[in-house]
Amino acid sequence: MSSQPEPCVLLLFGATGDLTRRKLLPALFQLHLRGQLPQHFAVLGASRQPLSNEQFRTLMRQACIAFCPAPPDDAQWNAFAEYLYYEAGHFSDPTLFQRLNMALRDIDHRHHTRGNRLFYLATLPSSYPLLVKQLRDAEMVNRAIGHPFTRLMVEKPFGRDLASAIALNDEIAAVFREDQVYRIDHYLGKETVQNILVLRFANAIFEPLWNRIHIDHVQITAAESLGIEGRGAYYEETGVLSDMVQNHLLQVLSLVAMEPPLSFDADAIRDKKTEVFKSLRRFYGAEDVLAVTARGQYGQSLDGHVPGYRNEPLVDPQSPVPTFVALKVFIDNWRWQGVPFYIRTGKRLAQATTEVIIAFRQIPFCLFGQDQVCSRIAPNQLILRIQPHEGVSLAFGVKAPGAETSVDSAHMRFTYGTHFDGAMPLPYERLLTDSMRGYAALFARRDSVEEAWRFITPILETWASHPPADFPNYAAGSEGPTSAFDLLARGGRAWRPLGEG
Ligand code: BG6
Repeated sequence: MSSQPEPCVLLLFGATGDLTRRKLLPALFQLHLRGQLPQHFAVLGASRQPLSNEQFRTLMRQACIAFCPAPPDDAQWNAFAEYLYYEAGHFSDPTLFQRLNMALRDIDHRHHTRGNRLFYLATLPSSYPLLVKQLRDAEMVNRAIGHPFTRLMVEKPFGRDLASAIALNDEIAAVFREDQVYRIDHYLGKETVQNILVLRFANAIFEPLWNRIHIDHVQITAAESLGIEGRGAYYEETGVLSDMVQNHLLQVLSLVAMEPPLSFDADAIRDKKTEVFKSLRRFYGAEDVLAVTARGQYGQSLDGHVPGYRNEPLVDPQSPVPTFVALKVFIDNWRWQGVPFYIRTGKRLAQATTEVIIAFRQIPFCLFGQDQVCSRIAPNQLILRIQPHEGVSLAFGVKAPGAETSVDSAHMRFTYGTHFDGAMPLPYERLLTDSMRGYAALFARRDSVEEAWRFITPILETWASHPPADFPNYAAGSEGPTSAFDLLARGGRAWRPLGEG
C-alpha cells in the first residue's frame, strides 16, 4: 500500500448526476483545498448531456456553491477547474469510449498522470454491466498487477438480492481482478464509524469486556427525520432493508462484532468482517423471520403537515414497501453466543440519530440494601454516537449527594466538536483518497457483500410473500411502529429513546 494518493485520472461516469453534484464534487474540492489530491491529477466527466469543458466546469462550480461547506472563491475555483474535463455520449456507443481513451491519453500528457485510471460508476446500477463491458472492449482495463493501475469504483446497491449480486460480481470479475474493485459504502468513510475499531483496539479497557460475559445486548439505530426526498421510484424498488441494512448497518455491526484482525491491512480487516457475516444466524422459514423482524411504513404526520409515504410522488398508493425496520440478530460464534444485536432504521422518525449502544449486563449483586435503590441502578452503556453530536459516552452509576445511598446514572462524554479543531472530513474525501492510495480496507469485498445478501434475502422473500396488513403503521415524526418496541419488550429490554443525551 502506498501512503500517498498516486497520480491518476478519475473517469467519472454519471458526471452530471445527483451523486456527482452532491457528494463527489464537493469531496474532491475539499481535498483540493486541503492539498490532499495527488499533485498530478485530473477528472474526466462522462455523461449523456452535451457540454463543453467550460460548460461542465460551470455546472460543477454551481454544484460546489450548492453543496460544498463554503462557496469557493475565484482563485480557489480556477485552480481546481483546470483539472476538470468532459466528454458527452451514450454509454451504449462504442465511439464514446474511443473518444474517452483519446482524452485520457491527452490528459496523461498534460497532467503527468502516468496512465493510472480510476473508473467511477456514479450511474444507475442498471448501467454497470454495460459500462464494464464497454471499458473492456475499448481495451481500457489493465488487469496486470502493478502500474499503470486501473481501478473500478462502484456505488451501492450491489444487486437486489443474492442471485443478482452474484451475477453482477461475476460480470465485474470477468473484466477486473477483485483487488481492482472498490465498492463504496459511504458509512465506512465516516470518521465515527472508523473510530469503532480504534476505540476497540487502541484501548486496553474495552476489549476484555467486549463479549457475551459482560454485554447484555447491542443496539444499532439509524433514525432519519427526512423522508425519501423525491426518490420515490428508487425507493419503491429498494425499500429500507436493501437501502440501509444490507450495506451500511451490517457493515457497522461487523465492525462492532469482528475479532481482532491480524493487522490493519485491507484484507486482514475484511477477512474478520466476512467471518461475522458468515456467523449471522440464518432463518428457519417464514415464521422465524416474522418473529425477529418488525417492519413499518410512515403515514402522514399527526398534524397533517407531512404526507405519508403512499402520498409521495412516484409511489404506489397501495405500496407495501417498508420505510422502517427493526431486527433482532444473533451472531453464532464463541464471543457472541446468546447476545442479541438489535438493528433499527427508518425514515421520517422523530429525531435524526445514528448510534451504537453497547448495553452491559446488570450488576451481579446489589450491596445497597433497599429495593427502591437497587431496582433503579441502570446497567452501564457505552454509546458510540455516529451522527450528529459525534462522539462517545459512557453511562455509569454515581452516588447522588445526601445522607441516603441513592444511585444516579451519569455520563462521561467525548465529542469530536469540542476535542478537535476543524470540520470533520466528508466520508467521500477519505474514500476517494484511499482509492487513489490503493488502500481498500474501507470498501466492501465481494464475499462480504454476498454473505450480507445471503442473510437479507430470506427476509425480503418472506416479506414479499406475507404482505403487511397494517401499513401505514407509524406517523411521520413519531418513534416508529409499536411492533418495534414489542420486539425488545419480549426480551425484557427497551430501545434507547431517540435523541437522548
Ligand atoms: C443512503 C441511502 O445510502 O444513505 C439513503 O440511500 C439514506 O436513503 C442515506 O438517507 C443515509 O446516509 P447518512 O450519511 O445521511 O446517514
